[in-house]
Amino acid sequence: MTSNNTTTTTLVVGATGATGKWLVKLLLDQGHHVRVIARSKDRMVSVLQELDTEDQKTSTDNLTIKEAAVLDLSDAELQEQVNGCNAVVSCLGHTMDFKGMYGHPRKLVTEVVRRLTDAIKVTAPTAKFILMGTDAVANPNGQDDKRTFAERSIIFLLRHLLPPHADNEAAAAYLHNTLGTNSGVEWSVVRPTDLINGSPTEKYQLFDKPQGGLIGSGVTTRANVAHCMTEFITNNEKWSEYKFKMPVILDNVTAETN
Ligand SMILES: NC(=O)c1ccc[n+]([C@@H]2O[C@H](COP(=O)([O-])OP(=O)(O)OC[C@H]3O[C@@H](n4cnc5c(N)ncnc54)[C@H](OP(=O)(O)O)[C@@H]3O)[C@@H](O)[C@H]2O)c1
Repeated sequence: MTSNNTTTTTLVVGATGATGKWLVKLLLDQGHHVRVIARSKDRMVSVLQELDTEDQKTSTDNLTIKEAAVLDLSDAELQEQVNGCNAVVSCLGHTMDFKGMYGHPRKLVTEVVRRLTDAIKVTAPTAKFILMGTDAVANPNGQDDKRTFAERSIIFLLRHLLPPHADNEAAAAYLHNTLGTNSGVEWSVVRPTDLINGSPTEKYQLFDKPQGGLIGSGVTTRANVAHCMTEFITNNEKWSEYKFKMPVILDNVTAETN
């Protein structure tokens, strides 16, 4: 397990995405090592460059890119990628077009969670595993507030009509029910609410359950999700507080309330 203020190595999948790119940037900017498995190396480099400003350019000296679709890698290749990592993070999400939602792999996130945590058991048993989830997925521990009848009806429809939602539910269930707290793998699921873009404000809060209805209960800046993940990776006290949990992350309503 990493101790605070030491250099860490993190494997990120979904790193070219709107949240993953921020996680990679924040870790590199803090001097940490990052490995990514990305379908396009060029895309990885360009999405990072897009975040550069005149004053601050991210060095990619500590970035290693394996060009592949993560589920195309063999178990041995995944074990090699995970070997030596302090943390493994999935910011994967289905592409929101017809092929991404109804094509294959239908259980992209769940399969990746299962295979990466299997790899962790073999080559990096102390690595922290962090999944980007959503507050539309209830914590399988049953401690979220019961949603209204209307919301439960919407979630029922999402589950049966939108494969990505069922996938996100299955991934959370795999971590909570199958791995649980005794598998040897430490995990956490960060559950944002409605996502927005923008730079990290670091003004957000973590809650143990959703803070309102499915829609209109606030927003979460993707870069703040990434910031929260960097805290989990680099701060062991934070990790002790949130491992085996599924915190809901919400931007603060006003800057003064952080
Ligand atoms: N939209 C919301 O308001 C909301 C709210 C809460 C939670 N979430 C959840 O947050 C997660 C991430 O959101 P985001 O907006 O950061 O995602 P995003 O920008 O859509 O990024 C998705 C990432 O997944 C990768 N990917 C997609 N299909 C893949 C496949 N078949 N194989 C390998 N990689 C694949 C993409 O890689 P490429 O660059 O190669 O395509 C990209 O890196 C999603 O799971 C979503 O369910 C969303």
